[in-house]
Amino acid sequence: MTLLETKHLTREFGGVIAVNDVDFIVKEGLVTGLIGPNGAGKTTLFNQITGVDKPTSGSIFFAGSEITGFPAWKISRLGIARTFQNIRLYKELTAVENVMMGLHFKVGEDPFQHRFIQALKSYVFASRENREVYSKAMEWLRFFDIDQSAQEFARNLPYGTQRELEIARALAAEPKLLFLDEPAAGMNPSETEHLMHVVDKIRSLGVTVVLIEHDMKLVMNICDQITVLNFGMKIADGTPNEIKKDKAVIEAYLGREEE
Ligand SMILES: Nc1ncnc2c1ncn2[C@@H]1O[C@H](COP(=O)(O)OP(=O)(O)O)[C@@H](O)[C@H]1O
Ligand SMILES: [Mg+2]
Repeated sequence: MTLLETKHLTREFGGVIAVNDVDFIVKEGLVTGLIGPNGAGKTTLFNQITGVDKPTSGSIFFAGSEITGFPAWKISRLGIARTFQNIRLYKELTAVENVMMGLHFKVGEDPFQHRFIQALKSYVFASRENREVYSKAMEWLRFFDIDQSAQEFARNLPYGTQRELEIARALAAEPKLLFLDEPAAGMNPSETEHLMHVVDKIRSLGVTVVLIEHDMKLVMNICDQITVLNFGMKIADGTPNEIKKDKAVIEAYLGREEE
């Protein structure tokens, strides 16, 4: 079943057409990979879908309802969560407090859109007494196998753990659909291995995942479906095996990688 769909989605920045007439389909329960060379429009496509930015034209449907141009808070309230290409954690909060923030925003506000972050942090501190929120946050850390770092400040965690902590915080809001923008970027091989295991576990929760990724091995191993962008346009979609054999993809992307 189709969970999310864009139709003729287009985003222009001045003369640059970052996303050009893209029909993107995300099927429920699957892991979908979004690949393409640098500047292909992958992050811009995520930004349109998650309400960080508004499309120039075209439309977006989630679970059958149109969500085109909705603000980010409204989209997250509907059950769509995301992480960003650069890490966005509360560096001065501990790991478990970061996830507690995610639980607070279950109601659907993106903490990074909020102008009163200080006031919001006080919610978290008030809820230190709230055992339920704390133990739920600990459960998420255990799910990711990073509970041993619960009391560490986010800024002191190894890079790979910070990236996973961000995913844990996004998942704490219990989304139906989760977008990950280059989750493995900058990870070492063992961190990447752990991330692949984590994505598998997320899928087993029934959460639909879309991820942008450069590491071909990772993409081919964990994705059920892959969509390829090049210069803002969709040039292919299909299973990993179909994508591997696709002429346009080999020319535009894989071929270049192998050179
Ligand atoms: N806010 C913006 N203003 C102007 N140009 C942008 C903006 N965001 C992205 N672009 C341009 O859109 C194109 C696609 O960028 P992006 O979506 O970040 O690519 P990718 O994530 O695939 O590497 C690039 O040419 C980029 O410079
Ligand atoms: Mg990007």
